[in-house]
Amino acid sequence: MKKRKLLSMLMVATMMVATFAGCGGSREGNTEPATTDTPAATEETTTEAPAAEYPGFEDGATIGVSLPWLGTQNWKEAEEMFTEQLKDAGYNPIVQAADQKVTQQQQQIESMIENGAKVIVVGPVDGSQLGSVLEQAKAAGVYVIGYDRLIENTTGVDGVVQFGSVKTGELQAEALLAGLQEKKGDKPYNIELFGGGPADPNAPNFFTGAMSKLQPLIDEGTLVVVSGQTDFTQCATPDWDNAKAQQRMDALLAGNYADKEIDGVLCPNDGIARACITACENAGQEIPVVSGLDAENESVEWVWAGKQYSTVAKPTEALVAETIEIIDSLKNGNGMPATQVNVNNGQIDVLVYELPPVVVTKENAKEVFANDPSRLKLLQ
Ligand code: BGC
Repeated sequence: MKKRKLLSMLMVATMMVATFAGCGGSREGNTEPATTDTPAATEETTTEAPAAEYPGFEDGATIGVSLPWLGTQNWKEAEEMFTEQLKDAGYNPIVQAADQKVTQQQQQIESMIENGAKVIVVGPVDGSQLGSVLEQAKAAGVYVIGYDRLIENTTGVDGVVQFGSVKTGELQAEALLAGLQEKKGDKPYNIELFGGGPADPNAPNFFTGAMSKLQPLIDEGTLVVVSGQTDFTQCATPDWDNAKAQQRMDALLAGNYADKEIDGVLCPNDGIARACITACENAGQEIPVVSGLDAENESVEWVWAGKQYSTVAKPTEALVAETIEIIDSLKNGNGMPATQVNVNNGQIDVLVYELPPVVVTKENAKEVFANDPSRLKLLQ
């Protein structure tokens, strides 16, 4: 995936906004700010009068939020926070989750369009399978914001809000290496590698980020991947399913570690981390150093207890707040805010609003969660 940090942030953002406006059908025209009696964007497509470039929309507008599933804590938090906070901000939210099923998500988005949503926020089940429904949204004048995951191979996306995904992988690998040095004595270290769900564009990015740190040490022999499985396709976990990860870990241990100790496991999120730790315990192994992601409550407790070495915090609250800020900007007729980052999604360069993920170990947990009372109280 091509990713370019652009130096001239304002210029580029302005160009990007102009590009989106240019191909946005009903969003073309002058730049008059919206008023509450601005006709709905969907109704403007056939009128002769110039529409506002970003026509804005009325108070109480419907906002759709389509999440991929509720299988990890971050998505459940997102469901709750969007429902509450969009309401508090004066919108009419429709928040749904798609149970990892692409067709279900396509149908949910279609019905959000039919219900007159002005913005649809999408965490895709499969980053590349929403092309046609999102083109439909775009043609209807609906803004589409990718949430937590990139939306690929479509022009029907206006921007994406997410934590740096390659950076997340780098942090996971750095924590794994620090943990190995701290807990597992002299090198070389025996490790295994896990990736997330292959349909999720974050998963290969997490893995690429991690491998940028691990591969040189594998090449020099400091790290030994005993199974020899180092390709993303071999290491991926279909649907981010913890049970599938545990089965793979069981098989790796049975096939490769009968007479060896496993020192570490690269894990892409907390659910998979706990599954791998459990498999190691079941196999009578000493607990290896394991990375994670999401700062799920159970894993925060495991980190505090010394059972899981690290996780990475990517607070849902911050991501939801950033998304609602963008929705407010669209509502007020100000278009997509400027940003420094854009990513090519296979068809267009997409504006990316990137937040920084933070690694968490027992050592810094109290500091990281100083302003998160619900996680702070797990640390005792
Ligand atoms: C999210 C993670 C989550 C995973 C599985 C990823 O796209 O970034 O927070 O653990 O999906 O739901």
